[in-house]
Amino acid sequence: MKPSEKGSMLAIVVACCAIGAVTVAATLGLSPTVLRQDKSAPPSIATEEYGRRLIMQTSELLGPDVADPGKRYSGSRMACASCHLGAGTEPGTLTLLLTKEHFPRVSPRVGAKTDVEDRINECLTRSMNGKPLPKDGPEMMAMAAYLRSLDGYNKAMGAAQRMAHEPAAFKTPSRAADLNAGKKVFSEKCAACHGADGLGLRANADPKRGYVFPPLWGPDSFNDGAGMHRVLTAARFIKARMPLGSPDLNDDQTFDVAAYINSQPRPEMANLDQDYPKREAKPVDNAYGPFADPFPLNQHRFGPYGPIEAFYKKLQKGAK
Ligand code: HEC
Ligand code: HEC
Repeated sequence: MKPSEKGSMLAIVVACCAIGAVTVAATLGLSPTVLRQDKSAPPSIATEEYGRRLIMQTSELLGPDVADPGKRYSGSRMACASCHLGAGTEPGTLTLLLTKEHFPRVSPRVGAKTDVEDRINECLTRSMNGKPLPKDGPEMMAMAAYLRSLDGYNKAMGAAQRMAHEPAAFKTPSRAADLNAGKKVFSEKCAACHGADGLGLRANADPKRGYVFPPLWGPDSFNDGAGMHRVLTAARFIKARMPLGSPDLNDDQTFDVAAYINSQPRPEMANLDQDYPKREAKPVDNAYGPFADPFPLNQHRFGPYGPIEAFYKKLQKGAK
């Protein structure tokens, strides 16, 4: 490709954001590879395009209402893209553009080295309240292939464009969250889409189709072992992304509404006490114990976080 062509290609990349990474990747000559079990086998269905669809239409393809009971891996009718906007192609908070670079890595939650397939299953079992996909099946292979393909898209995009729309990062207020104030923010800023009851708005009568506006709590929402169930993780997402299309909350409103959402009932995950084998590695806002510190569970759930952070800083210093 000549440099001048590269320039216009970049313009196309920006314009095409909405069309999806696969199309863009194809435009850039990063044509989607059809994965093969081995060189002689026929092409499998584990394509990047299938992976993108699984992330956009998770409920239709892997949800609790799909016809084939063997494919009901997601326990929720949300989509991966309910949190990973634009199927992960949106830069910034909860982007999947950098995923290829992030794995393999040691996960403090698991206490071992994890690959991208493990991470997908963590979201499937926690954020989607479901069960793990077999690593060698077409669905897992397709999603992993799609996520790897985003690396090329990310590199073509360039740092400036990547962060152009990212609002100022969330800064934790030095107080406990105020659930009553959060309830008020919720009804003024969130209920119009997510419903006054927080249970979301279904796409249509067919439950398989999932949601136009996903639930924020209740039986079809992320479970209590999910990253979004941590108040500071939820707050970072909300500050950057919600209300969708016009995020305009300040840090106080964000903190309170994140806490309010996470004070509501949701599915419970078994054996959470086994997460973070090194207790000191547990995030301060983890919503379940046990902890390596003397602070009550409620303070981990809703703050104030300053004293907990100070405790761990001191512990680290002592260890050195
Ligand atoms: C309820 C929101 C939610 C849903 C739904 C969700 N995720 Fe996630 N996902 C998260 C959060 C939160 C993180 C962790 C971010 C962090 O560690 O700070 C994450 C992290 C990831 C990562 C690691 C990204 C990286 O670069 O480190 C991958 C990969 C991922 N999710 C894939 C998926 C897939 C595939 C699905 C659907 C099967 C899915 N997620 C559904 C919230 C969600
Ligand atoms: C204009 C409609 C709209 C408004 C208003 C809105 N959201 Fe959302 N929200 C969405 C949509 C749509 C998604 C899923 C993303 C997608 O489909 O692109 C979403 C996703 C989410 C998610 C992650 C998925 C889930 O269901 O857990 C959270 C958390 C969230 N919104 C919180 C909020 C909060 C808090 C507010 C109020 C401050 C809010 N939203 C206001 C439309 C909206």
